[in-house]
Amino acid sequence: MLLTEIDHIAIAVNDLDAAVAYYAEAFGAEVAHREVVDSDGVEEALVKVADSYIQLTAATRPDSPIAKFLEKRGEGLHHVGYRVDNCAEALASLVAAGGRAIDEEPRPGSRGTTVAFVHPKGSFGTLIELVQE
Ligand code: CO
Repeated sequence: MLLTEIDHIAIAVNDLDAAVAYYAEAFGAEVAHREVVDSDGVEEALVKVADSYIQLTAATRPDSPIAKFLEKRGEGLHHVGYRVDNCAEALASLVAAGGRAIDEEPRPGSRGTTVAFVHPKGSFGTLIELVQE
């Protein structure tokens, strides 16, 4: 088994501060980590739940994938991050099983992680992010 944990579920939101305030009020949630990822055109706020995160994600520019997602589909579940010990190994295994890599090679993600995205087509309609800490 190559998956070791649900690393995070990512929820696309229009207003990151409003989403953070809502989670704080509803659940007493505190933001464990907040980061602008320039390469992806997003700002993330991570709420820790046991060893996983809820990743609230907003766009920082109109051409980012999250901006396009919000425009097309509105707010909601964007992707699931599966934690793995070795991103390259898990990506190769997934591609061998018929998955469609968005990232041909693992690349840097937020929190100093190494990540690779896999297309929803070929993965039962879910955008998958492989996350190596
Ligand atoms: Co993610």
